[in-house]
Amino acid sequence: QPSNLQMEGNSSLRRADCRAKGGAPGFKVAILGAAGGIGQPLSMLMKMNPLVSVLHLYDVVNSPGVTADVSHMDTGAVVRGFLGQPQLENALTGMDLVIIPAGVPRKPGMTRDDLFNINAGIVRTLCEGISKCCPNAIVNLISNPVNSTVPIAAEVFKKAGTYDPKRLLGVTMLDVVRANTFVAEVLGLDPREVDVPVVGGHSGVTILPLLSQVKPPCSLTAEETEYLTNRIQNGGTEVVEAKAGAGSATLSMAYAAVKFADACLRGLRGDAGVVECAFVASQVTELPFFASKVRIGRNGAEEVYQLGPLNEYERAGMEKAKKELAASIQKGVSFIRK
Ligand code: NAD
Ligand code: LMR
Repeated sequence: QPSNLQMEGNSSLRRADCRAKGGAPGFKVAILGAAGGIGQPLSMLMKMNPLVSVLHLYDVVNSPGVTADVSHMDTGAVVRGFLGQPQLENALTGMDLVIIPAGVPRKPGMTRDDLFNINAGIVRTLCEGISKCCPNAIVNLISNPVNSTVPIAAEVFKKAGTYDPKRLLGVTMLDVVRANTFVAEVLGLDPREVDVPVVGGHSGVTILPLLSQVKPPCSLTAEETEYLTNRIQNGGTEVVEAKAGAGSATLSMAYAAVKFADACLRGLRGDAGVVECAFVASQVTELPFFASKVRIGRNGAEEVYQLGPLNEYERAGMEKAKKELAASIQKGVSFIRK
């Protein structure tokens, strides 16, 4: 097996690999599921990220085409493609950050949990590879149902003896991106000026926007709060229905994934004050995993922040969220422990 996909032209005339091996500044990032609806724009956007020196694009189909395409962009990262299970280990070896958007998306009428049967096995296989080849990498897990796939990944890592809770982060950034956008619309603000913490998990009622903590401080009516909470919780379904069978959010997700991955890379670099919401191992509630604001540093999620004061509406939402989350977490854990 070649160690990675052969590129066009005479490889002896290219010095890019020498540059990568020579320790060009930046981080090594792998995308697993790089040829998918999220994977393709995510690959493009990560190739544009100046913190990335090496970009590995892995998928079970179509990664040669995506790799050839993205590799022509005149940005710094050296791009290599990997196709199929036999090349998974080469794709992962030496990586600092692994982003996982591999797996099937929803169609109208489905819940994220309906994806469990297919995606659980995909995430297990990929995480076994991570344990073996880059156990110290930060993992950004996008594949749904996130409320179960993160516990699955944790159990795989525990089994392999490589689990570091700080390094496993479920990506809930799209909920924050949507919340910022929808709240800005209601308030007549620029979304870039708005910051809404979204806690809990990444599915239906487990997505809990804390609208009482919006920055800049604002006062929303009960009607606005109800409208915004429902819209944020159902943002994924809004896209699934609009795409009418052609998949779920891909472009806004790639944007959110890159925003989150960039935060992880800035944390790895040692930048101070990098704080984002993510679904992580947590002691903020009685549940073993919970999404809240985390401070990202050289070791991943170095600090998990408390939720701050909740109003009555949010406390009621919290109870519903915890009930559903507990079941989804248990389902993920049992999948590996069974
Ligand atoms: P897609 O079907 O367009 O792409 C998925 C890709 O994964 C495909 O290219 C497929 O070949 C690849 N794949 C399948 N099995 C694989 C394996 N074993 N190893 C590597 N790659 C494999 O789907 P999509 O729209 O890109 O969505 C991917 C996942 O992301 C879905 O589970 C979706 O629900 C989830 N998602 C999560 C969020 C979030 O906020 N966390 C947002 C949007 C979508
Ligand atoms: C989203 O929130 O857009 C994703 O979780 C995809 C989905 O199935 O809704």
